Amino acid sequence: MSLRPEQIAAAIVASSSLQELLPRFHLPDVHMEMIGSLGVSTQAMQSFLGAYAPEGRRPKSCRLDGNELGLIQGLFLALKNNVAIHRSRRADLLFSLRLSPSASSVLDNILSSVPVIYLKRLKTPCPPLRHWIYEDAVHRQRYEDWLATNPWTPDKRIKTRHYPFYFVDPTDNNLQLDLKPSQSAKVYDADTKELIMFVLADVIAAPHILSWMTEVIERGCAALRSVRLSDPGKLVVCGYSSGSRNEACLGWSSTLATGDMAKVFRKKATGELDRFNCDISNVFSLTWNIFKKIAPEEVLQDYSNTVKLYDLPPMDGNGRQKKFFEIPGLSGPTEVHRQYLADMAPVGGLVAKNYVRYVHTETNLTKYMNSFTTFRGQDSSKGGHFYNCRYGIRVQGGANRWVTWKPTDAHGTSLQDVDYSDPNPTDFKQVGLGTSLSNRLPAAIFGAYMKMIWEEDEEED
Ligand SMILES: [Fe+2]
Repeated sequence: MSLRPEQIAAAIVASSSLQELLPRFHLPDVHMEMIGSLGVSTQAMQSFLGAYAPEGRRPKSCRLDGNELGLIQGLFLALKNNVAIHRSRRADLLFSLRLSPSASSVLDNILSSVPVIYLKRLKTPCPPLRHWIYEDAVHRQRYEDWLATNPWTPDKRIKTRHYPFYFVDPTDNNLQLDLKPSQSAKVYDADTKELIMFVLADVIAAPHILSWMTEVIERGCAALRSVRLSDPGKLVVCGYSSGSRNEACLGWSSTLATGDMAKVFRKKATGELDRFNCDISNVFSLTWNIFKKIAPEEVLQDYSNTVKLYDLPPMDGNGRQKKFFEIPGLSGPTEVHRQYLADMAPVGGLVAKNYVRYVHTETNLTKYMNSFTTFRGQDSSKGGHFYNCRYGIRVQGGANRWVTWKPTDAHGTSLQDVDYSDPNPTDFKQVGLGTSLSNRLPAAIFGAYMKMIWEEDEEED
């Protein structure tokens, strides 16, 4: 039986479940635009999804007449014909993300052309430890303007906001390497030959994926409370985290921010927090898979060994995602691709918007840390650059940029030309994520295990 497009469209719009399915099969837009209804219930349609094939038999329990069944049959035929289109679009998407086997030669060319640089470790970090970095007096003034408003902090004893400033002179001999937003580099210690930094520009060739990641990250920055309230900008922990300092216990991060931007996330009925939890897990899963393709061997080993050693759980949308993650297709968020091809990201990570921190060191479960900037709206003159102060390296902020460094090496970010009082400023925007595995996670996993035992004991009592 052959069907006219409007008949197929009528069958499609009759079922919400099929409307959800539709984008995955790329039916022509004309079908979407047509209005019609067969009055088929969602439950009836769901039974068809599993039981009714184009060549299949009529389902046993069915309240549809022959004409309606014919329409459904035509719909399934149309879906089947579009599977080939779907597969080719999926292949294009994975190629643009450098994830498909056919992209490996492109990726090899990119990675093999990354310049290898050897640098001497500086005697003292430059810019020095516990200094705020600035490259323009205006950027320093904007930070001081924010300080003058006496912004809220949970602990007045923390004086880091008032650390001294350090002006970076581009001609300073201590600045051994200055990477522009489009430049990549693999940097080794000249004496020990150890990898100290990996910077990769143009990581993926999928602008719509960067836009999607940015949108999800910004939602997280609006919804959740910053973990560094004394620093300007937003730094938020996502996924499973190690809990409070007093009680290490693994749990899904859900400490909501205050203010209007978080309002919609505070109302459970909106489902916005659940939607964000799934979306951010999808973002991190994709990042993890990209990481496994581009990271130098020693960085990859560092993460893989840590995940294995501590048996870290996957970042799974707080238990909702079991086997796959979802990313938007080439035509945008209405076209969803499920990826079964690789594992989920471990535990969780950080997302950041316009975040700045003075020069510092820190420790992690891993030796290396990574950041991936998904969006940068302004040119380099506006600040917000990453510094590896131990080796005098500046990495100028840029979108679609991967940066790996050792957190034990002194590092920091330069002040930006932005209104720090505005939670959603229009004059500057830099957004990205970080792969951070806290060194409190093992204790937190043990804490969660003990909590489970206690709860079981209480139930038995
Ligand atoms: Fe840091």
